[in-house]
Parts: sequence; C-alpha cells; structure tokens
Amino acid sequence: MTEHGSIWVLNGPNLNLLGEREPGIYGGDSLADIEARCAEAAKTAGFALDFRQTNHEGELVAWVQEARTGAAGLAINAGAYTHTSVAVHDALRLLDIPIVEVHLSNIFAREEFRHKSYISAAATGVVCGFGSHSYVLAISALAARMDL
Ligand code: DQA
Repeated sequence: MTEHGSIWVLNGPNLNLLGEREPGIYGGDSLADIEARCAEAAKTAGFALDFRQTNHEGELVAWVQEARTGAAGLAINAGAYTHTSVAVHDALRLLDIPIVEVHLSNIFAREEFRHKSYISAAATGVVCGFGSHSYVLAISALAARMDL
C-alpha cells in the first residue's frame, strides 16, 4: 500500500561506508541494511520509499530541491554537511513538507564541532543517537506528522 506518496531518505558523505566505518560509533549495519529497514517501515506506513546517498554537497542540494515536487516527507542524514552546509540549509527551507533530521550517533554527546547543525533550524524535528533505528523512528515520525 503506497497511496500516500513517497518518503525520501537522503544520505550525505561517508554514509556509503556504514558497516566498515567506525562501527563502535555508527554500528554494524551497512547502508543497504538501513535501506531495507526503511523500505519495510515506509511500506507499513503506506508510503513508497526513495533512498539515496551522495558524497557531494551539490548533489545533495539538487536532491533536496527535487524533493519539492517528488516527496511527501523527507528524512535527511547530511553526515558532516550537517555541521557545515548553509547550502543544504537554504535548500531545505524551500520545502513545504515535513522534514526529519536523522543521525545514527548522538551528535550532542560527541565532539563540540558536531553540536552545531545547519539542518535543525530547517527541520520539523530531529532523531539522533539510536543507531540505524534512528531511521525507522524518522519514518514513523514523518508518517505521524502526515496524520495517517
Ligand atoms: C552522522 C554524524 C555526523 O557528525 C558525521 O559527520 C556523520 C554521521 C550520524 O549519523 O551520526 O557522517 O550524521
């Protein structure tokens, strides 16, 4: 059942290496494992899923712009661009759909440079610190926000 439209999950730099990358911080699941969990969560909530990853800031900006017409709701883990990208922030502000900022780790319990997020001020809400389950929580929050 996907008649409610599409939830987009956008992933930024280095998240393609999940599973190999600092598993003590990010867990053992690969990005493909996370995509499978998101697909199941979206399907249960009645949405299609569009799941993408890029290492390039401009591509992430282009996808956020594309979400204006293609997405019913957006979850975004911008990776390190979370802490640096005014461009992603500005693109998110163009959207008129619910947005959940997602992180595997609790960015507020880590280095100080991770405490600042350019995504949060443009997001409906934030989920962080629950490992790959953060993504499932984000999809559930988007579905709830869309009042389904
Ligand atoms: C991250 C946290 C960021 O600080 C980091 O740069 C990442 C992953 C997370 O999911 O915990 O790449 O967004």
